[in-house]
Amino acid sequence: MKLIDGKVAIITGASSGIGKAAALLFAANGAAVVLVARRQDPLDQLVRTIEERGGRALAVVGDVKEERTHQQALAAAQSTFGGLHIAFNNAGLVGAVKPLAEIQPSEWAEVLAVNLTAAFLGARAQIPTMLEQGAGAIVFTGSFVGNSAGLPGMSAYATAKAGLMGLVRGIAADYGAVGIRANALLPGGTATEMAGDAAQREWAAGLHAMKRIADPDEIANAALFLASDMASFVTGSALWADGGNAAVKT
Ligand SMILES: NC(=O)c1ccc[n+]([C@@H]2O[C@H](COP(=O)([O-])OP(=O)(O)OC[C@H]3O[C@@H](n4cnc5c(N)ncnc54)[C@H](OP(=O)(O)O)[C@@H]3O)[C@@H](O)[C@H]2O)c1
Repeated sequence: MKLIDGKVAIITGASSGIGKAAALLFAANGAAVVLVARRQDPLDQLVRTIEERGGRALAVVGDVKEERTHQQALAAAQSTFGGLHIAFNNAGLVGAVKPLAEIQPSEWAEVLAVNLTAAFLGARAQIPTMLEQGAGAIVFTGSFVGNSAGLPGMSAYATAKAGLMGLVRGIAADYGAVGIRANALLPGGTATEMAGDAAQREWAAGLHAMKRIADPDEIANAALFLASDMASFVTGSALWADGGNAAVKT
């Protein structure tokens, strides 16, 4: 069964990692996907891969900090694929890792802009079309960082990822009655470019009950659930896909 057959989805941060895995999975499940990131080559390559597999995809190159990137993604979804049903606002960056008092205001602002304000800008662009259609599902990629744990040097990132929980609750309150759902996906450590080198990955693995970090496909599966009608009564919520990181201290 294709879980999102005939739907149109925007996925930000699709040039690598979790967003790339989600792009392949959403397309395999029948959605036309609009792929957003700054790096053109990996996006173009991903579009080709999806098309070779019989799916539909297009790339929008841009910075999620800029409102026009979200408008361009929306326009592409509408003009090429005829609407917008799903948004996976997933782009993120860790930014400068240092103790709070050493973080420059400009570094703080950048981390908040990419991880939190860009999510607002995305939702702000996406919601009117979903309202017209009377339905929509928005998923934001949060993190265990900021929601179940603080990690040294990551207070800006933690603040942004915790802030996403306020955003999903606010959208759920504003639009729940008119058919738009908003949820956060909270991954544990995941084997992407963001996960760092082998030593960092091994350290991160130890934080999880399962004593490993996730494959990006495992996080994409959780995103697909939240984006699909399988989660039709789930809004304003958070789905931990974290290998027991939040639940267990071992
Ligand atoms: N990996 C983990 O351990 C982990 C754990 C919990 C949560 N997360 C979250 O998962 C999400 C995906 O990260 P990932 O693990 O898949 O890491 P990743 O492979 O580094 O992917 C990050 C994605 O975000 C995009 N991006 C970053 N800044 C952007 C900007 N200003 N404008 C547009 N796109 C931007 C990158 O594309 P370009 O560079 O091409 O722009 C890339 O596609 C992030 O929100 C991250 O915080 C990751």
